[in-house]
Amino acid sequence: NNHFYQKSWLKEIDFNQAELNYLIDFALHLKELKQKNIPHPYLQGKNIALLFEKTSTRTRSAFTVAANDLGAHPEFLGKNDIQLGNKESVADTAKVLGSMFDGLEFRGFKQSHVEDLARYSGVPVWNGLTDDWHPTQMIADFMTLKEVFGKLEGLTLTYVGDGRNNMANSLLVTSAILGINFKLGAPQDLQPAPEIVALAQKQAQLSGAEILITDDPKEAVQGTDAIYTDIWISMGENVDPKERISQLLPYQVNQELLAASGKSTTIVLHCLPAYHDQNTSQGQKLANEFGRSELEITDEVFLGQQSYVFQEAENRLHSIKAIMAATLGELFIPKEFFND
Ligand code: CP
Ligand code: NVA
Repeated sequence: NNHFYQKSWLKEIDFNQAELNYLIDFALHLKELKQKNIPHPYLQGKNIALLFEKTSTRTRSAFTVAANDLGAHPEFLGKNDIQLGNKESVADTAKVLGSMFDGLEFRGFKQSHVEDLARYSGVPVWNGLTDDWHPTQMIADFMTLKEVFGKLEGLTLTYVGDGRNNMANSLLVTSAILGINFKLGAPQDLQPAPEIVALAQKQAQLSGAEILITDDPKEAVQGTDAIYTDIWISMGENVDPKERISQLLPYQVNQELLAASGKSTTIVLHCLPAYHDQNTSQGQKLANEFGRSELEITDEVFLGQQSYVFQEAENRLHSIKAIMAATLGELFIPKEFFND
């Protein structure tokens, strides 16, 4: 009776519009249950492994707390704890973990690794971020938009900054699936790869979403409902910071760019972590080396009235809970729900 039962979520395109909308609404529902202290132990007695090759604050915490809230036991397996892809093939690790755990989360570099984990483990696998995609983040982001605007229909979302990373890919494709107009502002070298744009265009034809990719940051934000940005150098990327910073400075989300939307209701989102202040060792290093510690977003905008970044971060918990409960739980979902 559960349409999602035993499904993995490896990349956004694995789910269609109705399925993504279901997960967003289910996450909103689970948030309400949590706020009202109503128990929701959909995964009583299950065991979940959390594999992390890259560092994480939000994703790891959200999976851990979500598993506990659902009655499941989470087990963290960091890059120094297991042999994945190192001493042991991904397939062997997958078979072993799949024989012990009921579900696996993977955060790492290669998309092929998360896909192999799903192929060989025989249990649901959730992508907690790879170099290519960040699907669980999408439910939190569109859930936040729905909370703020009360609906998703008719919205326009803008992403500015590094248009070639996992976040840009995910936001572009998810907007296209959901029928949300999407504008991306990035220098030509850092615009999404042609195959990602083609995938999004195909979805946009089905959903009616409009897509605009431009190197003009002002054009990208003009009339938009939400401005989204992400760090300029992603985990595992090996680029010259000086070059990247000078390339992306015109795309910084500052008061001027925010005002260029022409709407006082435009909100600001960021998946975090963000480089907006000096209160980190990285911020101090940047300030010393490049004379600035505010990179993709200014402190003023990050902490300003139009920023919803912390609500968005909290929503990682509720959305990851929805994804795990849907794919591993004994939910009753009427069949008609997905007949579109
Ligand atoms: N947004 C996000 O994925 O944050 P973490 O890297 O802290 O998990
Ligand atoms: N693009 C960033 C996202 C972090 C959540 C990275 O991959 O490091």
